[in-house]
Amino acid sequence: PVPGWAVDADVVVVGSGVAGLTTALRCTAAGLRTVVVTKARLDDGSTRWAQGGIAAVLGEGDTPEQHLSDTLVAGAGLCDQEAVRTLVTEGPDAVRRLIGTGARFDTSAAGDLQLTREGGHHRRRIAHAGGDATGAEISRALVDAVRDASLRTVENALVLDLLTDEHGNTSGVTLHVMGEGQHDGVGAVHAPAVVLATGGMGQVFSATTNPAVSTGDGVALALRAGAEVSDLEFVQFHPTVLFLGAGSEGQQPLVSEAVRGEGAHLVDADGVRFMLDQHELAELAPRDIVAKGIMRRMREQGAENMYLDARHFGARMWATRFPTILAACRSHGIDPVTEPIPVAPAAHYASGGVRTDLRGRTTVPGLYACGEVACTGVHGANRLASNSLLEGLVFAERIAADIAEVAAAPRPAPPATSPADRPSLAPAPAALLPLIAPEARLTIQRIMSQGAGVLRSAGSLGVAADALEAVYQDSLRPTDPADPANPGKPAQPGVESWETSNLLCVARVLVAAALEREETRGCHWREDFPERDETDWRRHLVVRLGTGRV
Ligand code: SIN
Repeated sequence: PVPGWAVDADVVVVGSGVAGLTTALRCTAAGLRTVVVTKARLDDGSTRWAQGGIAAVLGEGDTPEQHLSDTLVAGAGLCDQEAVRTLVTEGPDAVRRLIGTGARFDTSAAGDLQLTREGGHHRRRIAHAGGDATGAEISRALVDAVRDASLRTVENALVLDLLTDEHGNTSGVTLHVMGEGQHDGVGAVHAPAVVLATGGMGQVFSATTNPAVSTGDGVALALRAGAEVSDLEFVQFHPTVLFLGAGSEGQQPLVSEAVRGEGAHLVDADGVRFMLDQHELAELAPRDIVAKGIMRRMREQGAENMYLDARHFGARMWATRFPTILAACRSHGIDPVTEPIPVAPAAHYASGGVRTDLRGRTTVPGLYACGEVACTGVHGANRLASNSLLEGLVFAERIAADIAEVAAAPRPAPPATSPADRPSLAPAPAALLPLIAPEARLTIQRIMSQGAGVLRSAGSLGVAADALEAVYQDSLRPTDPADPANPGKPAQPGVESWETSNLLCVARVLVAAALEREETRGCHWREDFPERDETDWRRHLVVRLGTGRV
């Protein structure tokens, strides 16, 4: 689509979770003209849904070395050590600055931060807010700060593509805005720096903890822009998602790891604790190990779910420490005070994403990525619980510093252009990808859950790849209401079809990577290659559109 309006800025931040808003606030503080564009409302992304908390070395006796070690173990040999070191050493101050921004974490009567444990952590180092509403509080504080700073925000704005100049440098984005007055319809924000902070892609699966907006838009945009994407096969399935019945689709309620951190037990249909003999940390083993333990026992018992038993917390602790989870369970007719909670794994977090360096730079000049959309190297093959909010904070600050530094560096004056002759208004690669009708969304999600879920094999992934190819081919065929073989309507440009196109794009890359990685590592579990292969596979799969992998 041709942009009908344009805005100029120094930096455009796409997305409004912890990564996006922190970047925007820091860029504004550095004197950069900053515009935040976000697909729905400012607090509609994944950050608001984070329950357990934010991991950082904030407690007595804990050290960055211990946090580093736990992160590397969870990452199963594929973390970038320097990225992790950056995360764990800069993390504590970043959390203190977040508190300075207005986020109120839970504290003891003496005013010390209360810290809990989650899977893979050998120490209590997870700060939380409102008991189990940490993300909601962080989001509130950041949105308030953005409003106080009168930062320019554009809501209901789906970013379509990256704009680049004749040298391949980022020059802004095109976007589609709905119902925002003067900026309605397709427009452009021109800026030499674009920060993707669009969150994850959980909606590529049928059942996920992610909100409806998590449709992989940033990864798809980056692929179309020619950026490198890495580690997409490492999708983390959260072990304990409230089980609402086989075939439940869409966003599912999370039952935080922190519930296990405070002493809940995983039990099978006979009430037996089955994690005790699987890992020294039992229910608090890294997330991939717990998810696999649950899946194994489900298979052995022919069950659709396992149970999380925290009746021993009692009514008072449930109400004060986990009010959000208590309310969610009760709204579905389950009372955790008197009965075990039925749980099963569901898609939760993309450990991979758009490849960046330690300054958040992608392989396209001027394009940055931050938060879940990015692959900074801190998560490796399996993210450590509660490291994601921290990653968003730490790398947002680094990105803002880098953009400010680049902006301050002298550069040659650009030739004068008028809005009409800007060279950047024709994002070519996007034109090569077909528009997918919204009706295909459910099909894509079911294909992915059946073929590329927790358990994978060449067989299941091959079926998924073929089925996704069929969706793609269908979208290329001309439709004709009079043709009984293909009577559908052609996909119309609009948010739902652009999102569905993004879902198909990331699904295909994910399946291609999962097929290629013939081993089991972290959250990638191949039934036909059940061992970790340190000889051939201690490496990353990096994809760039047009390199023949998709
Ligand atoms: C949870 O509260 O269990 C989620 C924590 C995370 O995904 O890091």
